[in-house]
Amino acid sequence: MSDPLFDLAGRVAVVTGGLGQLGQEYVRGLSERGMRVAVFDIAADDPVDVTDRASIEAGLERVTREWGVPHLLVNNAGLDSPPDAPAEEVGPFETYPEASFDQVMDVNVKGTFFCCQVVGAGMAKEGRGSIVNISSVYGLLSPVQDLYEFRRGGGEQFVKPAAYSVSKSAILNLTRYLATYWAKAGVRVNTLTLSGVWNDQPAEFLEAYGARVPMGRMLEAREAVGALVFLASDASSYVTGANLVVDGGWSAW
Ligand SMILES: NC(=O)c1ccc[n+]([C@@H]2O[C@H](COP(=O)([O-])OP(=O)(O)OC[C@H]3O[C@@H](n4cnc5c(N)ncnc54)[C@H](O)[C@@H]3O)[C@@H](O)[C@H]2O)c1
Repeated sequence: MSDPLFDLAGRVAVVTGGLGQLGQEYVRGLSERGMRVAVFDIAADDPVDVTDRASIEAGLERVTREWGVPHLLVNNAGLDSPPDAPAEEVGPFETYPEASFDQVMDVNVKGTFFCCQVVGAGMAKEGRGSIVNISSVYGLLSPVQDLYEFRRGGGEQFVKPAAYSVSKSAILNLTRYLATYWAKAGVRVNTLTLSGVWNDQPAEFLEAYGARVPMGRMLEAREAVGALVFLASDASSYVTGANLVVDGGWSAW
């Protein structure tokens, strides 16, 4: 039996970064609830690059032609430190590379900005829609550098970079800006803030992380789906400009 409050059946979603660890869970969770879900991912066969407005426009054109104007946009594509990050990127703040800063800001901030511009515009014209921007506890609070001690064996340096935190803070106010901008147009805009997701990290890290969080463990990717369904559905019809924090109590300490 479906609950009309949370009913998403037949609606259309766009999930950016839908091929990543969390993105795949969102796609699965929304599809299981009857949504038609389009993935905007640079790694897809039909790639959409969120840093390229024309690429987003082309992706949206395909979705709209097939399924109609999206009801939900999840801005989930994001970069932390790219896999080929040079050593300076996880070195001291003082020498963090400009190119890395630009790359992180491009995907995390400009990518979200462009997707809101392009997909949000269509939603506003329809007079309905929900946008969920993904942030991190590292956008609310500073990273805890002590958690990364395990990366510092053998005299190696490891500093969790500032760029990611700066980019995820920007998301919080882009959300508030757009929530007010589109409030009367029927488009709700909210942030979903997550803490660290379990991904088979080294035992030393998991232990240190568990000690730092009241619930004593990392988030399981599938545990982010419930909050997304809430923000996507009519259950949150009066919720806009909010930040829903799913962090096992991390920010309560
Ligand atoms: N994993 C965590 O611990 C965690 C914690 C808090 C918040 N988050 C946030 O959740 C989101 C997803 O994280 P994840 O861990 O699943 O990341 P991930 O690296 O597994 O997936 C990111 C996806 O984004 C895609 N992508 C990268 N650049 C793109 C671009 N220019 N255009 C389109 N797609 C692009 C990648 O191809 C990839 O599929 C990110 O915004 C991240 O900041 C993650």
